[in-house]
Amino acid sequence: MLLDIKNIDVLYDDFQVIWDVSLNVEAGEMVALLGPNGSGKSTILNTISNLIGHRNGSISFDDRLISNQPTHTRTGMGISHVLERRRVFPHLTVLQNLQLGAWHEKAKASREESLAKIYRIFPKLETRSDQLASTMSGGEQQMLAIARGLMGLPKLLMVDEPFLGLSPMVVKDLIQIFRNVVDEGISILFVEQNVRLALSMADRGYVLESGRLVISGDSAELVDSDTVKKVFLGD
Ligand SMILES: Nc1ncnc2c1ncn2[C@@H]1O[C@H](COP(=O)(O)OP(=O)(O)O)[C@@H](O)[C@H]1O
Ligand SMILES: [Mg+2]
Repeated sequence: MLLDIKNIDVLYDDFQVIWDVSLNVEAGEMVALLGPNGSGKSTILNTISNLIGHRNGSISFDDRLISNQPTHTRTGMGISHVLERRRVFPHLTVLQNLQLGAWHEKAKASREESLAKIYRIFPKLETRSDQLASTMSGGEQQMLAIARGLMGLPKLLMVDEPFLGLSPMVVKDLIQIFRNVVDEGISILFVEQNVRLALSMADRGYVLESGRLVISGDSAELVDSDTVKKVFLGD
């Protein structure tokens, strides 16, 4: 088991938004975290990164308890987090953005090698390497954000709403990239509101509703589940 979350509660001040959530990701797995807007998907990723703390329960990664360890230690452990709305550094070039993804010791040591690999996966980023990130399209910025995450040599890549606002063509490219990443043995945990799309890609899924898990299982089971249909009815 790579990531193992057991029975966590998360509160913003006194306001509880996550209730008794357990979730795990195995090595080489692609897992989707699904749920309507406001159900707590981003909060869970942010909790894994310890951008927000949790009450009760535990979070383990690679068989180590990481619950209270500071956010900046996450990349060194092998967790890369691509935040919602991409968040590349707009006033830095593509290359500078990528280099910043490899700031911890181990990633820095193999930075050139990683860069060559990233350019093979995302050829467009090489041709644009001197361009300011802000001048790239939404799809290119998402590619850059994911590429920057990969520069940290993660075992687990977490991506929050990767497809939001992207054209069907870019979505298709991204899906292929996700598959390639998993083929390299890197696990992916991604957040998505489009259930059909997410379950067509992922091995397994978890469905949140108002901060509680309502169902989880293999993608094939979830696609046909009445619970899933109910949660997303009219979505
Ligand atoms: N910084 C915050 N302070 C207080 N409440 C928040 C904060 N961020 C999110 N929330 C609330 O937590 C709940 C879950 O939000 P979020 O995790 O962003 O959901 P999702 O990503 O599934 O859309 C929502 O009710 C939201 O309003
Ligand atoms: Mg969100």
